[in-house]
Amino acid sequence: MARRPLVMGNWKLNGSKAFTKELIEGLKHELAGVTGCDVAIAPPVMYLAEAEAALANSQISLGAQNVDVNVKGAFTGDISTEMLKEFGAKYIIIGHSERRTYHQESDAFIAKKFAALKEAGLVPVLCIGESEEENEAGKTEEVCARQIDAVINALGVDAFNGAVIAYEPIWAIGTGKSATPAQAQAVHAFIRGHIAAKSQAVAEQVIIQYGGSVNDANAAELFTQPDIDGALVGGASLKAPAFAVIVKAAAAAKQ
Ligand code: PGA
Repeated sequence: MARRPLVMGNWKLNGSKAFTKELIEGLKHELAGVTGCDVAIAPPVMYLAEAEAALANSQISLGAQNVDVNVKGAFTGDISTEMLKEFGAKYIIIGHSERRTYHQESDAFIAKKFAALKEAGLVPVLCIGESEEENEAGKTEEVCARQIDAVINALGVDAFNGAVIAYEPIWAIGTGKSATPAQAQAVHAFIRGHIAAKSQAVAEQVIIQYGGSVNDANAAELFTQPDIDGALVGGASLKAPAFAVIVKAAAAAKQ
């Protein structure tokens, strides 16, 4: 089964109202007529209204970088699935290593976020990946399996139907040191195989993005790999021309 690639921009803590409008105008211009790849952007939630308006009549989907497990109530500072939905957000990043590290988010808590998104009909983009230390200790597969099993054990493997996994080795994020296509492919194949052990059908359709220093120069080669179904892009998603090159590379590679 051919999987349709997804290239998603994770803007992290960057932007302003004006920047949001400008970058989206640039993306609409650069990506006009490009087919064969799903595209999404996750600006800071502060700018979802500007982004929703700027994205009207475009093929680019809206996303967000985080969500809370609660839908309403006394949870100061949090944002719910329903709020994201009201602004048309569809793809929601959870479990990013920056949140796991700086906000002490646990596998179990992230599994609850996954459940909240499924319940709301939103698409979880579950980030997983090992640290440099874990990589050097040969623990990459163990870490990825643990992070996926937290969801499978809580919700069952079918929760990954229509969901997205982003394999993001922490040592590659924002370092300019991307995993090589072969390195990434090996881990992606492991992840798909790990899910296939529970359900072949779920494994065949799940989108597994690579993330970590993807840019306009290295994207095409990464997308030649059979189990790399697109990318979660940080730094290079802040420039329309570079992001567009990545989207076009995915569309071309996965025809
Ligand atoms: P990067 O970030 O592309 O800047 O390495 C990727 C991510 O953290 O999602």
